[in-house]
Amino acid sequence: MQYDNIILSSPADGVGAVQLNRPKVLNALNTKTMSEILHAMQAYDADPNIRCMILHGDERAFAAGADIREMSDATAVQMMVRNPFSAWEDMRGIKKPIIAAVSGFALGGGCELAMLCDMIVASETAQFGQPEIKLGLIPGAGGTQRMTKAIGKARTMDIVLTGRNFTAQEAFDLGLVSRIVPAAEWLEGAIKMAKEIASMPAIAVREGKEAILKSFDLSIEMGLEFERKNFYLLLTTDDAHEGMKAFMEKRMPVWKGQ
Ligand code: CAA
Repeated sequence: MQYDNIILSSPADGVGAVQLNRPKVLNALNTKTMSEILHAMQAYDADPNIRCMILHGDERAFAAGADIREMSDATAVQMMVRNPFSAWEDMRGIKKPIIAAVSGFALGGGCELAMLCDMIVASETAQFGQPEIKLGLIPGAGGTQRMTKAIGKARTMDIVLTGRNFTAQEAFDLGLVSRIVPAAEWLEGAIKMAKEIASMPAIAVREGKEAILKSFDLSIEMGLEFERKNFYLLLTTDDAHEGMKAFMEKRMPVWKGQ
């Protein structure tokens, strides 16, 4: 498929990257961009050579939010019919891990898109925020839900109801960001993390992601049972046999991804 608003690359073995490429509007997320991101990620998900994904913007912006121009003249009914958030929902179905590499602005839908990824690696100068309140709106792509689950009610109320930006350090301290890296290494830091994950046994990585995400939906009892069943399932894989055998033989394991 020909993409207009994203660029694909493979910066390391087993790693597939999607770059948002609307720099003139700070990578504002219109419907077409979101559907391109989803299409590319679904293709990476189906590609056995890809074991981890990175989503990134450029140095100035990860994404400055949903495209305000696209939204500004739409009625509520048009938005419901157009259903611009369907791609966001479908991204939840991606099985392989996704790292958001954030430099510059991750605001509104940009912050929500980063939170929709599984991990965030942020430049020390990155700025996060949910400024929708300043437009007379609230976050519409999961901000009130995902942020509350990630950092709790009190801080989310502060961020969403004031619309203030917050720094990478605050995001890290709140547990929203996995790693902070020097500004010059914002993308390399994410590639390094993606390489680490891509070098792990692929089925265990996939099951680990699934079990962690289930913790948001299930009671502790059901979540523990889900985890245990998947743990037992992994015991049947070649990689688990190899991992335990290699440990006992004091050598490095060789993963097959099966
Ligand atoms: N949508 C559309 N265009 C946007 C945009 C957005 N979210 N953010 C920036 N742009 C455009 C600007 O209109 C500008 O275009 P022109 O050159 O044609 O005027 C260009 O990007 C550069 O932006 P600025 O000149 O404003 O750059 P700046 O450095 O002075 O300011 C900024 C940067 C603080 C990020 C500012 O652009 C800004 O406040 N952007 C809007 C942020 C925002 O409100 N995001 C939430 C959107 S609503 C949402 O996301 C809903 C949801 O939950 C899904």
